[in-house]
Amino acid sequence: MRAAAGVSIRAAREQDRAAVSALLRAARLVPLDESSQYGPQYAVAEAEDGTVVGVAGYERYGDASLLRSGAVAEERRSAGIGARLAADRLEHARRSGCATAFLLTDTAKEYWLKLGFEVTERAAAPAGIAQSLEWSHACPASSTAMRRALLAGAGAQ
Ligand SMILES: CC(C)(COP(=O)(O)OP(=O)(O)OC[C@H]1O[C@@H](n2cnc3c(N)ncnc32)[C@H](O)[C@@H]1OP(=O)(O)O)[C@@H](O)C(=O)NCCC(=O)NCCS
Repeated sequence: MRAAAGVSIRAAREQDRAAVSALLRAARLVPLDESSQYGPQYAVAEAEDGTVVGVAGYERYGDASLLRSGAVAEERRSAGIGARLAADRLEHARRSGCATAFLLTDTAKEYWLKLGFEVTERAAAPAGIAQSLEWSHACPASSTAMRRALLAGAGAQ
């Protein structure tokens, strides 16, 4: 595992938006748009020099959360930053009253299995999640749907 010394996770700010968009583009993920709830539900990983090297966020639909935009700069991968970002957002969602987290993935099913998600039927998602842009339009029908319960303390891995 590479060293991640000095990389900290913090709440995303409006000024991070360009760096976040660049990370999402580089990772070929769904871009931010007006439905993405960008704001306190997003977090970034910041390197020692202030560079934004990772992002994760979630959208909230009732007591269900849609984890999205998990991306780490290529040269910073395999240092645990992605797992820290995911744990941070799941804990934030849990503290905000979310009972479940959902996500869609094209290429990272094994990764999310390791982080406690299980495969679910796409059609089994609650209505709010199903109506989100990501669920209804932005991700192909072939994407894998995954879910995870957010039990007390479960997000703090
Ligand atoms: C997925 C991603 C966020 C992980 O970030 P990261 O900081 O490298 O993650 P971690 O350091 O916590 O975990 C790295 C481990 O996960 C594994 N992993 C990473 N991506 C994976 C994938 N797509 N499928 C399976 N395993 C994966 C790595 O092989 C690594 O394993 P190792 O520690 O045994 O070498 C990053 O690889 C990324 O930005 N990928 C492109 C965008 C993407 O696919 N995002 C997920 C959208 S659903």
